[in-house]
This record gives sequence, C-alpha cells and structure tokens, in this order.
Amino acid sequence: MINELDRNDVNRIQELENNFNYVLKDIKNDFLNNPFSHYLLFSKDKKIVGYINYYLLYDRIEIANFDVLKDYQNQGIGTKLLDYLIDAYSNRVNNITLEVRCDNAKAIGLYKKMKFEIVATRKGYYNGVDGILMERRMMGMKDIYVLGIESSCDETSFSIVKNGCEEIATVISSQIDIHKDFGGVVPEIASRAHVKNVTFVLEECLRKAKMTMDDIDMVAVANGPGLIGSLLVGLESAKTICWLYHKPLIPVHHIAGHIYANNLVKRLSFPLICLVISGGHTELVYMEKDYSFEKLGSTLDDAVGECFDKVGKVLGVDYPAGPTIDKMAHSGSHTYSLPIPLNDDSYNFSFSGLKSAVINLVHNEKMRGNAINKEDLATSFQDVVIDVLTKKTLKAINDKNVHNLILAGGVSANKGIRERFEYLCQSRNINYTFPEIKYCTDNAAMVAAAGYYAYLDGRKADFSLNAYSNMELK
Ligand code: KG4
Ligand code: ZN
Repeated sequence: MINELDRNDVNRIQELENNFNYVLKDIKNDFLNNPFSHYLLFSKDKKIVGYINYYLLYDRIEIANFDVLKDYQNQGIGTKLLDYLIDAYSNRVNNITLEVRCDNAKAIGLYKKMKFEIVATRKGYYNGVDGILMERRMMGMKDIYVLGIESSCDETSFSIVKNGCEEIATVISSQIDIHKDFGGVVPEIASRAHVKNVTFVLEECLRKAKMTMDDIDMVAVANGPGLIGSLLVGLESAKTICWLYHKPLIPVHHIAGHIYANNLVKRLSFPLICLVISGGHTELVYMEKDYSFEKLGSTLDDAVGECFDKVGKVLGVDYPAGPTIDKMAHSGSHTYSLPIPLNDDSYNFSFSGLKSAVINLVHNEKMRGNAINKEDLATSFQDVVIDVLTKKTLKAINDKNVHNLILAGGVSANKGIRERFEYLCQSRNINYTFPEIKYCTDNAAMVAAAGYYAYLDGRKADFSLNAYSNMELK
C-alpha cells in the first residue's frame, strides 16, 4: 500500500525514522517545519518498508531520499513508489530531478526504465565519486495560487491570484463608512474592525473562488508599512493559516503590492518607472526587473493623497476627498493661482506648502466676505498637482532612458492624472499601464500578485515575521 505521510501522524513519523535509522535522523524537524517536504510511504506486513522523500517546489519535484528495506528489495517496491509519484504529478509539475552515485548501476537502471535522463555529471560529488543528475520531464506546469491578505489601513481584503497575473476572486471590506464621521482613519477602531471582519472575508473569498485551502499554494501578506494594529491582524491571520495548512508565508511590502496591481492588467515590461501616489506615499521608483526597486525620490512632507484629503476638508468634502475633488475638478476652470510645489530638478516632492496655500486662500476669501467657487478651486489645485507629478516623472523617464511607465496607489484612480499621463505617453511613444480603478486603492489582489514575484525572488519568511509601520521598499 502506498500513501503520503501525514504531518499529524506522530506514530508513523516515528516508525519511519526507526525503520530507516541508518539514513534518517530526526526527520520531524525538517518534515514538520518545511511545507515543501513530503514522504511517500510503501507499507507491507503492517510496516513501512520503503519511502521516497521529495520536495514539491511548485513547478518541479526534487527527490532527496529514496530507500527500500534490505529484506524487501528486488520486489519492485522502488518501481511502484516512483510510478505512483509520476502518476500523481504527471500534469502538475514540469520535471522530477534526483541525484545518484555514478557507480550505483542498479539505481541508474531503474531511473532509466522510469524515463529519467542523465542531464549532468557532478565531478567528485560523493567523496570523490561522481554524482549524476537525472531528470524526468513531466506533462505540464503547475499553476500557482497565492492567497493575498491586505489590512494595512482601513480595508480588510483577501484575494486569490493565479500565477501572479490572473485574479480568481477578491473580497474587500471597506471601513470608510465607520471612519467618515471622524474625518480620517482612527487606528484603534480600524484594528478592531479588522479583527471582526477577517474570518468572514476569508470565507467569502474562498467561496467566491469555489476553492478550499487545499488549492492554495502559499499565503502572501502585506506586513508594512501601515497602521501597526491593522497590519498585525492581517499578519497573524496569515501565520495562523500557514501554520494550520502547512503553507509557505510570503511577506509583501504594501507599495510593492500597489505596483503589482498593474500586473493584473498587463505583464510588466522592464525597465520601468513607477509613480507611486497614495494616501501615505509619493515616490518615484525605478525597476530594472521583477521585484527589484530603486527609490529615486519621495515626498519630503505630506503624501499627495493626504493633500487631497486635507484640501477636501477645507472645501467641506467627506473623507476620503480624492474622488470628490477629482469630480469637482472636471466641472471647474483653472482660475485661482497656486504655487507649484518643489518645482526643482530633483525627484522629490513636497505638498504641505500647496495644502497651506489652499487653506490660506479659503481663509482670506472668507475674511474678505468673498464666496469660493469650489469647483474652480478644485480644478486649480488638481492642475498644479498634475503639473508637478508629470514633470518629475517625465524627467525620471528621460534620465533613466526607459520606455515603460506605470502608476500605483489610490491617487492613480484620479481621472485628471490618468488623462494627462495618457496624452503625454502617447505623444512620446512611452508604454503605459494604469491599475484598474477598483485596484488603485488598497486590496489583496495586488498583494497576491506581488507575493508570487516575491516568492520567485526567494522571499519566504518564517513565523518570526513581524509587521512594521515604516518599512523601506527594497
Ligand atoms: O492607496 P490607498 O488606498 O491608501 C494608501 O496606501 O495610502 O490611497 C488612498 C488615497 C486617499 O488619500 C484618497 O483620497 C486617494 O487615495 N484617492 C484619490 C482618488 N481616489 C482615491 N485621490 C485623487 N483622486 C482620486 N480619484
Ligand atoms: Zn495603499
């Protein structure tokens, strides 16, 4: 009888270790803590007489150990175990590889019979004896399903994304209505709302995807930057899921998430410049390849989204004000004169001066008894923001000699910003991608997409992973 060793079956784990104690020492540690490690067991006469220890590395399998007890050899048990493994994974992985001593003719013969081919020789690999690397090609590539978790601020969100680019299901529970009355996000209320929502949002996401946790390959979580109490709820949920279901844990920088929202629209082309514009960030980022981030500049004070929200406050607009100002700006004219902030040759931004200029203008007009034309002020303000964002982004594109631009973050939903960038890119032959409007603001689809590339970049975490309110993008 052949079956997989169950991680909860303490007795069988112990029996395996005892029966093969000449090669297997303390397998518990590796097996219980390494979600990639698997044991296929062959049982006969009510005991384990053979096994294959293999690592399932998403799109391929590496056989680490393979043995049959002496008294049970030459009975075809090895062939049956290999056959079983090949059958079970024939259309799920690209290949199975293993390493064998060059003087072990019997094993090499068996592998050849099972259609393994010699792909390389490793000189002197086994204490002077050559090692032979063998590969068996399989039918196909396994799709990788990442469960993403986002709880950095006031959205509790779970999403399942296939291969970093295809969204399967996303659920976003927004707390905007709770925080509206306070004119901004109240951290403690946000944390409590996450705790309340988190399990329901996960359940709804799996239901929407028609999947169970067995279909999920790994869990990606935004562990910073953001509100620390909020982040911790998402992080602990991720750890709990990974611990319960033996899934790898992938940490994702929140801004990397925003950037990879573009990958759900179109595969990123490199090298590229990304303008990150959100409630907490304003940054120009250069990416030479996937998951490689070079920050060229950032805001010296307020983030652009924060500036939209504060200007909205003096105009009597509900939080978050960005979308409403955007709408108002489209029905007004540029009549008010406002300063262009940090209008220099650097890649940095500054928005607090612009914010103060708007507040002062409203105040002064009020003192003079003049009415403010809110639409005109919104247009004037948004025009200045667009001018400075486009000027610095185009400079970065020229300086770095790139032809690909992407936008990221909540403010990239802004219609005026998108229209201006579209026009500028088209007239300069620059490829551009913007995130879908619904994935400009915080969501877990972007985290799951980024998580796939973080995994490819080798960024797996263990359970000591922490959350950080401030965190560099690197
Ligand atoms: O990315 P996000 O959801 O949160 C952070 O990571 O900070 O961005 C939220 C910000 C808010 O400040 C909101 O006012 C702004 O994005 N925003 C907009 C628009 N839609 C959302 N700002 C300008 N125009 C919009 N259409
Ligand atoms: Zn965000």
